[in-house]
Amino acid sequence: MFSQKCVPFLTNFCRRSLSSISSIPLEIRIVEVGPRDGLQNEPTILPAATKITLIDQLSETGLQTIEATSFVSPKWVPQMGDNSEVLQGIRRKSGVSYPVLTPNIKGFKSALAAGAKEVAIFGAASDSFSRKNVNCTAAESIERFRPIIEEAKKANVKVRGYVSTVIGCPYEGVISPLAVAKFVDTMFSMGCYEISLGDTIGVGTPGTFRKMLNEVVKVVPVDKLAVHCHDTYGQALPNILTSLDYGISVVDSSISGLGGCPYAKGASGNAATEDVVYMLHGMGIKTGIDLDKLIDVGKFICAELGRQSESKVNRASRR
Ligand code: HMG
Ligand code: MG
Repeated sequence: MFSQKCVPFLTNFCRRSLSSISSIPLEIRIVEVGPRDGLQNEPTILPAATKITLIDQLSETGLQTIEATSFVSPKWVPQMGDNSEVLQGIRRKSGVSYPVLTPNIKGFKSALAAGAKEVAIFGAASDSFSRKNVNCTAAESIERFRPIIEEAKKANVKVRGYVSTVIGCPYEGVISPLAVAKFVDTMFSMGCYEISLGDTIGVGTPGTFRKMLNEVVKVVPVDKLAVHCHDTYGQALPNILTSLDYGISVVDSSISGLGGCPYAKGASGNAATEDVVYMLHGMGIKTGIDLDKLIDVGKFICAELGRQSESKVNRASRR
């Protein structure tokens, strides 16, 4: 593979270049969202056993965070209807966190009963997307989150926060960076330990990402931010690279670039984890992830889904 010969050169070259950009982190934590974001939009319902195998294999790659499933309505997202079975069936590896999405207190209680130790609440900077996605306005969704935060504190469960449509909304168009920063501030002030900035429909570019980040970093410390880039327009890697410039050190991605939101028209897959890891390692940035093992997991899940990997690195690999 290309990486074997070129990484040392790239690494030395990039280390020198990086040293002039002092804020670029030397270590990145990847949040693998494949079992949730990656599968939620897949029309073929996979058996719970396949999802469990996927998560167990991901656990062996060195990933520290693997989003396992979501406790949403099975009428809205049938693929996630086996949430408890999946969460209870996985082999939890020490040091790995397995967060799950919870839209309301009902979902939180079910997640807790199934053994969740970390949850993610998800809101949006756009009211129209919020209505389509969770059947209420952005402000109403905040009210639904309050009891989750309260109960999570009592149960010692960590809460991550997503803010969707940080660049554009499929229904409202361009979203103002100030509106994004305001919503991010609200979610962070409520008690989320980290906020993931979702470019839900992948319309961002390094230019629009900078405008958005310039406002967001004014309200939330950079070490509490993550980016979640969908790749609809092929901009996920450049946007991730842009966020590294700001010192952001947590990146969401999905195995083999699977993904999409059923309630965001036109949304396609996330940044592929294999591609993100390849890029970061090539820059001399540590992830703790074994790329070869990751590629094997990508091949496994793509075979199960009967589709080609969206990861260029995976497709280039002859493993
Ligand atoms: P609703 O219909 O307004 O809910 O849906 P409701 O409170 O009126 O209740 C209606 C029925 O749903 C009731 O059942 C409830 O018990 C049930 P019935 O009496 O009719 O039999 N219900 C539930 N069942 C299971 N689990 C629950 C739950 N809550 C109520 N938690 C709801 C509101 C939020 C539930 C619904 O809109 C929903 O499930 N939406 C989920 C949408 C979703 O999962 N979207 C994808 C994830 S977000 C995303 O992908 C973006 C992200 O990746 C970041 C980015 O890319 O930007 C995170
Ligand atoms: Mg997403």
